[in-house]
Amino acid sequence: MAVNRNLVILTIGLLCTNAAFADDQKAQVNYMLHCQGCHLPGAEGSAGRVPPMNDFIGYFLHSQAGREFLIRVPGVAHAALTDAEVSELMNWLVQRFSREQLPTEFIPFTVAEVNELRRDVEQSPNNARSLILANIAADNPALASEISKNKN
Ligand code: HEC
Repeated sequence: MAVNRNLVILTIGLLCTNAAFADDQKAQVNYMLHCQGCHLPGAEGSAGRVPPMNDFIGYFLHSQAGREFLIRVPGVAHAALTDAEVSELMNWLVQRFSREQLPTEFIPFTVAEVNELRRDVEQSPNNARSLILANIAADNPALASEISKNKN
């Protein structure tokens, strides 16, 4: 019954695509409800107040400290969202707004990881940000000039 088998595979494929699509939609709605007020629809932020995440946030994933920072930053850690919603939102966010800046091997955030990191809220986000970006630039000379353009 080759046809039926193909049909089953096709159906499973469609279900998976729909599930991923539903997660993306949920992440986007959560972004609109919980983040967009400050970060704006295109994640462009506002100069001197809210850092731009578009075409930039992916750079943080070039270091472990940067990866942790993205979850420990107050707006994310304190969001009125579950750990699962935060991991879904952040995985969508980095790929939606900053896919090109991600390391070649982007490892998605897990729920357990978010659960642990968000308990340890970053108390000095601006200092942490500068230090983390300086370290990433020092370790990745090819990225340094792009990173230095964005000091916020
Ligand atoms: C009340 C305004 C506000 C809201 C709401 C908010 N943020 Fe932020 N966000 C900021 C500011 C300001 C910073 C800069 C660091 C700081 O002062 O906390 C920031 C920093 C960040 C950073 C670090 C980026 C960088 O380049 O330093 C990330 C990631 C982030 N926010 C994601 C989110 C997400 C995701 C949400 C929604 C769940 C959210 N924020 C909600 C204002 C906000």
